[in-house]
Amino acid sequence: MVRAPKCPFDPPPELHGLQEQAPLARVRLWDGSTPWLVTRHAEQRTLLGDPRLSSDVRRPGYPLPSPARPTGSGSIGFILMDDPEHARLRRMVTAPFAIKRVEALRPVVQEIVDDLIEEMLAGPNPVDLVEAFALPVPSLVICHLLGVPYADHGLFQGHSRNLISRSVAIEERTASFRALTDYLDGLLATKAETPGGDLLSQLVERVANGELTRADAAGIGVLLLVAGHETTANMIALGTLALLEHPDQLALLRESTDPALVASAVEELLRYLNITHTGRRRAALEDIEIAGVTIRAGEGVIMANDIGNRDPSIFPEPGELDLTRDARRHVAFGFGVHQCLGQQLARVELQVVYSTLYRRLPALRCAVPLDEVPFKHDGQVYGVYELPVSF
Ligand code: HEM
Repeated sequence: MVRAPKCPFDPPPELHGLQEQAPLARVRLWDGSTPWLVTRHAEQRTLLGDPRLSSDVRRPGYPLPSPARPTGSGSIGFILMDDPEHARLRRMVTAPFAIKRVEALRPVVQEIVDDLIEEMLAGPNPVDLVEAFALPVPSLVICHLLGVPYADHGLFQGHSRNLISRSVAIEERTASFRALTDYLDGLLATKAETPGGDLLSQLVERVANGELTRADAAGIGVLLLVAGHETTANMIALGTLALLEHPDQLALLRESTDPALVASAVEELLRYLNITHTGRRRAALEDIEIAGVTIRAGEGVIMANDIGNRDPSIFPEPGELDLTRDARRHVAFGFGVHQCLGQQLARVELQVVYSTLYRRLPALRCAVPLDEVPFKHDGQVYGVYELPVSF
């Protein structure tokens, strides 16, 4: 399903129709399979919390988003695993993403944001906001946390981009996945020689203790590095564009010094933009009765969280961007056991960005008309490839 022309922030119009008719509907995918599409918020949360649905792409019926799995037989961390193995691996990296630990990083994030704005002020104008700001902020933060050298950003950003694009040939995506795995494996080897206080060094310790295989450690490294920068970068650039298109809301944010309004703006932009727009995908392991239908074992299920976040029974006037609404029940970070591990980190990054960028660059504006902005319709994560801005 494609978005309507001139409505780059809204889910495809067919989804509204499906949501009005029923909470679940059958849809046809590129391979002819007909999984269930879940469009209402309540049923999405219920199903995302149900252990009878599997995240394992090898299960019969799993609704693949494109012709092949880019990872081949490799492992991309625990995001595509089920409990108990998923929980065992996730637990090994939960501590650095807990709220208190992430709050302690806030000054580091602020310094990164301030430095990048200084560089923008000293550099060319107009500039591509993605390249100059949106990508470097979360990349620098995740490098700091994992112990990855930022000097390698060209390498890991390029391969991450290929990995999550549905229009890049499968051979190229597989090659990018291998390159990222080899890169992380090499870093783990370096950390084994000279450990630091970073997360990759902690993984090396677990490998040495026999708690983790080297391959699983590299897979977790790839997952954290890719998920840690691509998502937030898209929220920064697309969020900025959405605010520039809603000047009243941008003014509200720019003129407020209330941290509660900034926090609420972040939740509302997460809800409104829902950048993980290809839905949360699962395969049913057993028959599941829900909303008057039976999902049979072996059938695929897609929780379309973009339209779930526009469910009018939860969010009145869902098509309005309203930074003052309480949007905390959004499903932009998913729900259940796979709920985003990095959500507190993403929140801190976005709060620092949204409360700093527009105040420091009060004349910020898009340097091209909206219909010339290249949107990532082909990405598993929605956003913009470039955002030319002047300030
Ligand atoms: C605005 C930014 C972000 C958004 C919208 C986002 C969204 C999501 C969503 C929807 C999921 C659920 C996947 C599923 O149910 O299948 C997820 C999982 C995950 N995210 Fe994020 N994410 C963001 C930022 C981050 C950051 C900064 C990290 C840091 C490393 C991160 C790491 C992860 C990991 C490791 C998982 C897998 C969790 C699991 O399977 O247990 N994310 N994210």
